[in-house]
Amino acid sequence: MGSPAIAILGTGSYAPEKILTNDDLSKLVDTSDEWIFTRTGIRERHIAAPNETTSQMAAAAARLAMSDAGVTAADIDLIIVATVTPDLPMPATACFVQHQLGVPTHAACFDLNAACSGFIYALDTAWAMLGSGRYRHALVIGAEKFSSVLDWKDRTTCVLFGDGAGAVVLGPTRGTGQILGTKLYTEGAHTHLLCIPDGGSNTPDPAATGARTPRTVSMKGREIFKIAVREMEEAARDILAQHQITPAQIGCVIPHQANLRIIDAIARYLELPAERFFVNLERYGNTSAASIPLALDEARSSGRIKPGETTLFVAFGAGLTYGSALVRW
Ligand code: UT7
Repeated sequence: MGSPAIAILGTGSYAPEKILTNDDLSKLVDTSDEWIFTRTGIRERHIAAPNETTSQMAAAAARLAMSDAGVTAADIDLIIVATVTPDLPMPATACFVQHQLGVPTHAACFDLNAACSGFIYALDTAWAMLGSGRYRHALVIGAEKFSSVLDWKDRTTCVLFGDGAGAVVLGPTRGTGQILGTKLYTEGAHTHLLCIPDGGSNTPDPAATGARTPRTVSMKGREIFKIAVREMEEAARDILAQHQITPAQIGCVIPHQANLRIIDAIARYLELPAERFFVNLERYGNTSAASIPLALDEARSSGRIKPGETTLFVAFGAGLTYGSALVRW
């Protein structure tokens, strides 16, 4: 008997109530709505309340995904939270989510750090675990309180990111949402291009050096931009070739929502009309691991995904990690 076909059974998303517009940001740093919008396509982003945690946002998205899938907490035996902004360094955010949702103790719960590619990495991992037949229903969640790792005086990074969560329930297929394939990649030579250079075992001992580097995101944006376009095109082309699907046969592409100019470049390279790409970054900014599941949930609820169509997910992020996935509805 072959391994069971695994599908996305339901989706959900959550964004914090507070909205920070580009004009609001121009009061904090030397920037403007015009610069941010023309360079990135972002108009506003959601920012979590000071006492709101990544796990709370993850659980809110997960509840909606479970309701959409018609499953309860008792049905879940695996939770993977993709995040680089965990509630605490230890234990895993997924453990907080399990408790908040009332998922049984026989569930395996852990976090996965692949930055903005985290959702595709977590989808691949959960798909393999469910495919083994040893787990039945998984919550795969991308959730970030990215505002907690931003330097709000650094205009080159603080204007780009936002907070939020997106979740899917995976389980045995009921005829739609089947995962056809995933591809994961890493270019570890580029770790320095996007990182939080403090807070880990490689942090200089402050007592010895007298100095601390900030526990905030450091990014070489221009370099990443070029690599991101190349990596995302490669990830898209490889998975399509592997499944003998042409770009034109893709109903909807859900790319990582980092920068509209990156998405437009990939559309051009794949020779697809820009309308084929689902884009919501103007309202959320880059929500890192949450970006694809949040966009997927909006794409489904707005009718952008039609029965019988194939959807391509494609992402890149710190690591540099990148990857793609194909789902048939
Ligand atoms: O999930 C992965 C996350 N990372 C990314 O997605 C990063 C990918 N890279 C990008 O999206 C783009 O490189 C950025 C949006 C970050 C920057 O756009 P760019 O067109 O590459 O601009 P740049 O870095 O070349 O900067 C152009 C100018 C500079 O001034 P000078 O040197 O020309 O005088 C910057 O200092 O724009 C200046 N600048 C700003 N001006 C107003 C940088 N940030 C801002 C800002 N407001 N927020």
